[in-house]
Formats: sequence, C-alpha cells, structure tokens
Amino acid sequence: MENLISLVNRLQRACTALGDHGEETALPTLWDALPSIAVVGGQSSGKSSVLESVVGKDFLPRGSGIVTRRPLVLQLHRLDEGREYAEFGHLPRRKFTDFAAVRKEIADETDRETGRSTKQISTVPIYLSIYSPNVVNLTLIDLPGLTKVAVDGQPDSIVMDIENMVRSYIEKPNCIILAISPANQDLATSDAIKISREVDPKGERTFGVLTKIDLMDKGTDAVDILEGKAYRLQFPWIGVVNRSQQDINKNVDMIAARRREREYFAQTPEYKHLAHRMGSEHLGKILSKHLEAVIKSRIPGLQSLINKTVIELESELSRLGKPIATDAGVRLSIYGSIDDLNFYKSGLLIQGKLYMIME
Ligand code: GDP
Ligand code: NA
Ligand code: MG
Repeated sequence: MENLISLVNRLQRACTALGDHGEETALPTLWDALPSIAVVGGQSSGKSSVLESVVGKDFLPRGSGIVTRRPLVLQLHRLDEGREYAEFGHLPRRKFTDFAAVRKEIADETDRETGRSTKQISTVPIYLSIYSPNVVNLTLIDLPGLTKVAVDGQPDSIVMDIENMVRSYIEKPNCIILAISPANQDLATSDAIKISREVDPKGERTFGVLTKIDLMDKGTDAVDILEGKAYRLQFPWIGVVNRSQQDINKNVDMIAARRREREYFAQTPEYKHLAHRMGSEHLGKILSKHLEAVIKSRIPGLQSLINKTVIELESELSRLGKPIATDAGVRLSIYGSIDDLNFYKSGLLIQGKLYMIME
C-alpha cells in the first residue's frame, strides 16, 4: 500500500509540472483522481499548527493574524532511512535540512508573490516536499484562514476571494477536509463546518478537528462536541491541544508538545474516557488509514487511467518508431507490463503528450 501512496505522490508532482507548463486541459482529470488533505477554518483557528503536528515537524509559519497568505501544497514522502530534508517546487535543486530555514523560505516566497508586510493573499500555491523516515506518505494543503471582514490594507473583496480559493481546493471530490474549529468559540459560528458542509453535505470526506481545548472558559468542556452530541459528523471528532503562542515564543519543541498533549487528555477527568482517540498522533493515524482506504476504493479508476495512458503511449511510440527523449537529454526507459507501476518512474502520456515525472 505504501507503494501505491507514493505512486500517488509522484502523480501529483507530475500534475505540478503540468501546471507549471500551463497544460490546463490535461490537469483536471489527473488531479481529480488523486486524494489530498486540506485544512480549512477561520483565521487563527490553529490550521497551520494542526498540519505541523500531523507532520511531526516544525516548519510552518504560525501565529495570530493572517500568517498563511498563500496555499501551501505539502507532500510528505516516507524514506526507509537517511536524513530528512525538504525541497521547494520553486527551488528544485536545493535540499533544506534546517527546518527553520524552510519556514523562512515559506514566508519569503509568500512575500515575493504578495509583497512584503502586506495583508494581501495570493491564490498561487507554494509547493513543498518533505522526505523523512518519520512521516507517512501524504499530501497536505495549508490554506489561508476564512475571514469575516476586510482589515486595513485589504481590498473589500478579500472575504469572498479567500472563500473562493478555499472552496476551489476542498470542492474536489478527492480532497479530504480537516475542518478546524477552535473550542473557545461557539461551534455554531464555525467557518470550517459551514464551508465543509457546503462542499461535502454528507460528511463523507470531512474530519472535524477541535483545537484550543485548553483555552476554554473555566467550567466548560468539549465533551458534548467530542462525543458527537453537539454536532454530529460522519467521522468522530478529534480534539487536539496545539502549542500556545507562548510555547511558540519559547520554542517548545514538537516532542514536548505531543507529550504534554497526551498527558492533557489522559489526565483531565472529563476527557480520560476519550483519550485513546484524541490528539495529533491519533489524527495522523486516522488520516493515513482513511487515505489508504480511499485509494484502494479508487484502484479500478487509477488502473483504467494507467491502462489508458499506456495504450496512448504505445501508439505514440509506434507512430514515432523510436524511443522518445526529452530536451533535457533524460532518457525515457519504457516500462514492461501494464500493471508494472514503475511505469510512472519514467513518463506519463496525457492527451498525446509525453511528460517526465520528476523524481
Ligand atoms: P491558523 O491561522 O489557523 O493557521 O492558526 P495557527 O496555527 O497559526 O495558530 C494561531 C495561534 O493560535 C497561534 O498563536 C497558536 O499558538 C495558537 N494555537 C493554535 N492551536 C492552539 C491550541 O490548541 N491551544 C493553544 N493554547 N493555542 C493554540
Ligand atoms: Na493565524
Ligand atoms: Mg496558518
């Protein structure tokens, strides 16, 4: 199964390459066939924090206000061994091993597109891959937060612009939605729930994540929500406790934060009985299980996609009468059989055009 997921990751990167070349006609079919996971929610609800804990790495800009101003498409690739590193789509040959530098590059690359110290947002995504022995294979998308009003320096259209951008990611049937709601705000006003419901009314691909449980008013708790009594979702709610702003300022690391989160659920009398299905680690496990199930259920679809492209590739090859080489001089070795997934290591034919898969 791991191979299949990493195959999907490769396909998605091929889509990135296609997108970069403006092959818009080819993009929708392939992109739509592949699952990804997006975080949605109001500003400062904890979206970037949740993504970081799922990944188990500190690398995203977080904080109060509009910090995430461009979509970030993040691909996690599991390495069997070796040192972890990150790579950006816009800096293909540079390996980052310092994750503080990754965070800085996300912020810098955001500024390059939107202008420095603005509150502007951009719909142009940043692509980032992380290779590590400590991750499961997943594609995750961090999105700017939904807002209710434009603030100084923002155009009035910003509220709708962000909403439309977010919708363009989560309306894809293959997008698994992490709907992030902060526990210290009324669930009835949750932007995450509202927009996820709009694109996924049956809740078949929405996971409700409740953040900031530690910040609830004294005397209140989230038990009704977490037990699904306040607002029922198809999948059980998952509560998390992320690092506070003070923790961020003090550089509290991920391992310490996770330990504290585990202790929080295990030791708080109200949540003890739910502790086994709470927290960031549990969320990560649930997500990769769900992703595998989705891909499995889609194997017939993926298989026909593979078959179709191979048939097209073969006819293209026989027409040309010799192996195709790319301008870059990279030789395309052409696979063995149709069910040899290694086929994707060499090339992919879409609508009559042969593309390299970036390894
Ligand atoms: P985003 O804007 O939705 O991406 O939210 P961030 O992840 O940037 O978090 C916004 C702020 O809320 C940061 O200062 C975080 O430290 C804080 N925060 C997020 N989740 C929690 C949580 O579960 N508990 C506490 N105490 N603070 C949190
Ligand atoms: Na924020
Ligand atoms: Mg954010």
